[in-house]
Amino acid sequence: MAIVAVAGRKGGVGKSTIVGNLAAEFAAMGRSVAILDADPQHSMVAWAEQGDGMLSRSVQKVPAANELRARARQAAEDNDIVLIDTPPGAPEVAYQAALAADLVLLPCGPSPLDLFALKEALSLALKARAERGSKKPRIRFVPSKVLMSTNLSRGLASSLDSLGKKVLPAIGQRVVVAEAVSHGLTLAEHSPDSPARAEFTALAKAVDKILRK
Ligand SMILES: Nc1ncnc2c1ncn2[C@@H]1O[C@H](COP(=O)(O)OP(=O)(O)OP(=O)(O)O)[C@@H](O)[C@H]1O
Ligand SMILES: [Mg+2]
Repeated sequence: MAIVAVAGRKGGVGKSTIVGNLAAEFAAMGRSVAILDADPQHSMVAWAEQGDGMLSRSVQKVPAANELRARARQAAEDNDIVLIDTPPGAPEVAYQAALAADLVLLPCGPSPLDLFALKEALSLALKARAERGSKKPRIRFVPSKVLMSTNLSRGLASSLDSLGKKVLPAIGQRVVVAEAVSHGLTLAEHSPDSPARAEFTALAKAVDKILRK
């Protein structure tokens, strides 16, 4: 039913990590979930292939940008939530994802350099919204790989606020996040009681609230 794209120009800010773990949170809420891997690196497929968890049953490869919108619409007919993972530095794929999505999440790391890339990703999502002539996609920032309670992270929240889009609950930089990936699992499966998992639960609840509006 709902399509959520995770996008951003910069590499390594946590897009795929957010897609995989959000998918698991929605599955834990009892929703049917599909993940479209629209990144030519196919990180979601690689993550899923490390294990036999929920990702191994949810990830579909989308080989070409021009197929993405049709594939997303189809997946949304068959599932409650469709999450699209997009590559860094490939504006065409991110644009197609924004044209298909109800909500675009733009993760941003704590470095001031991340903010420059974020502004470009924001303009792209706004351009897609203008083309659709609607309020969609909604756009939200997600502070990602944040070292909690550092000055840099506190600065990030206020810098994001100043860009004029709402900021969702932050995801901290934690070793267990990468450990789960090496087992082919999401945090909900690998470390269900961890503080890291609790952050993704909070993020999923916030996303769900937006999608219900
Ligand atoms: N919250 C986190 N805590 C610790 N490590 C993280 C976190 N989020 C992501 N990582 C690690 O950082 C690296 C990059 O993350 P990820 O692949 O999710 O980013 P990405 O934005 O999808 O990258 P790309 O642009 O290459 O697709 C991975 O090794 C991942 O395990
Ligand atoms: Mg990725």
